[in-house]
Amino acid sequence: MSESGIFITLEGIEGCGKTTQSLALKDFLESKDCKVTHTQEPGWGVLGKYTRKMLLDEKELRLEPFAELCLFCADRAQHVRGLIKPSLEEGHTVVCDRFSDSTVAYQGYGRGLNLDLVEKMAWAAALGVIPDLTIILDLPAEAGLERIKDRGGTTKIDEESIEFHTRVREGFYKIAESEPKRVVVVGADKPIDELAAEIAPIVMKRVG
Ligand SMILES: Nc1ncnc2c1ncn2[C@@H]1O[C@H](COP(=O)(O)OP(=O)(O)O)[C@@H](O)[C@H]1O
Ligand SMILES: [Mg+2]
Repeated sequence: MSESGIFITLEGIEGCGKTTQSLALKDFLESKDCKVTHTQEPGWGVLGKYTRKMLLDEKELRLEPFAELCLFCADRAQHVRGLIKPSLEEGHTVVCDRFSDSTVAYQGYGRGLNLDLVEKMAWAAALGVIPDLTIILDLPAEAGLERIKDRGGTTKIDEESIEFHTRVREGFYKIAESEPKRVVVVGADKPIDELAAEIAPIVMKRVG
């Protein structure tokens, strides 16, 4: 692959701290003189603006799980082509809040779509770009949902049942088990600074 930058993804259920920690990681890497592109899924660019609205906001739109899968994949393909690949080619470290593992966990384990199909589509949409390191922030579903309770405007997916979010959490475990070289699970039930201090050396060890 021609990419020269390092690609790091953060994964986990809602409220586990992905956004908080991905921004902290960006600051940490910048303090080490890395050029960093921080981004998130879904919702990049023009297609992302519409897909994010359909996937998360439009509560009247009850998406068929397969339609939901296709929208997440379409969103990813545009994001990879438009931002992630070019940033890696420029030598940036890309820190991405959710990526293909979320599709496998939510649409595969959460919705119960055929896992083999979901894995193929989730990674095909990544256009050959595979994270060098994925950090899964692990938290019980109840604790994650409790953290986002006060966040204004919960999304359609936030409002799914506790059983759904628990299946997603367990899906992330399965992913970590199947790809121990790429994926590290970190317990997220600790203060923000403590968690950031645990993540930083994992990143330094894996990416140099
Ligand atoms: N380690 C933590 N301990 C307690 N609260 C946290 C922690 N990390 C994040 N939060 C808070 O929990 C909420 C969800 O965090 P966020 O980073 O947005 O999670 P995510 O992006 O995974 O949904 C925010 O209000 C955030 O300030
Ligand atoms: Mg977030």
